[in-house]
Amino acid sequence: MTKKMTVTSIQKAKGERALVMITAYDALFASLFEESSDMILVGDSLNMSFAGKDDTLSATMDQMIYHTNAVCMGAKNSFVICDMPFGTYTSKEKALKNATRVFQETSADCVKIEGGKSKADIIKHLTKNGIAVCGHIGLLPQSVRGEGGYKVKGKSEDEAKKLIKDAKAVEKAGAFCIVIEGVKAEVATEVANSVSVPVIGIGAGNGVDGQVLVFSDMLGLFEAFTPKFVKKYLNGAVLVKDAVKNYADEVKSRDFPSEIHTY
Ligand code: KIV
Repeated sequence: MTKKMTVTSIQKAKGERALVMITAYDALFASLFEESSDMILVGDSLNMSFAGKDDTLSATMDQMIYHTNAVCMGAKNSFVICDMPFGTYTSKEKALKNATRVFQETSADCVKIEGGKSKADIIKHLTKNGIAVCGHIGLLPQSVRGEGGYKVKGKSEDEAKKLIKDAKAVEKAGAFCIVIEGVKAEVATEVANSVSVPVIGIGAGNGVDGQVLVFSDMLGLFEAFTPKFVKKYLNGAVLVKDAVKNYADEVKSRDFPSEIHTY
């Protein structure tokens, strides 16, 4: 059994080795991911890949707590991050009330909040009150409707400067780690080099301190669309469909259950 990561060991890993983060939404998959990952993120991406919605915006606090509990049960030895859903951290008070629920109702190790400098006060308020925070800068899926789509960041000098300012503000506010999403690789590398906390990339190239992928994407289970940055390590959807078809065929042909599967 590998040793459970902590905020301190995650921070110490910067510059030593690449950190591995993966999403999970339930106990079963979390238990399968535990051995090979440093951190498990219960992302609000579950609203798309598991709840079938078009974006993450309608995920609720209750849903995140339910799924975080399941992940914590399945991966007791993992550092678990609970994503704060859209609209649950619009003020310091609201953020603290909702993040406190995460700590009281689950055994998650931290929460994740989307936003840079504009969320620094909220991150500071949470960390001052004993809640570890993972930041999230760059492309912010919770802003997709407000921005009119998913837009890669860091394409201009101004955007690059803003990203560095965001990362520094989030670090100063007390975040122990930062996810950076959908950012030009060279800019993401610059961001990682400008802060002392680990910067974990998704669609942000190979010069950052670690990587995160949504598990249903990297296992090839989510078929609706595949972003450029996703590598499929398994052809999951094809394998699952084949398996269910084999089962259905054997039920129809009465080859299942055979003698060995019968009491
Ligand atoms: O919700 C999620 O899965 C995330 C990742 C894309 C980092 O925030």
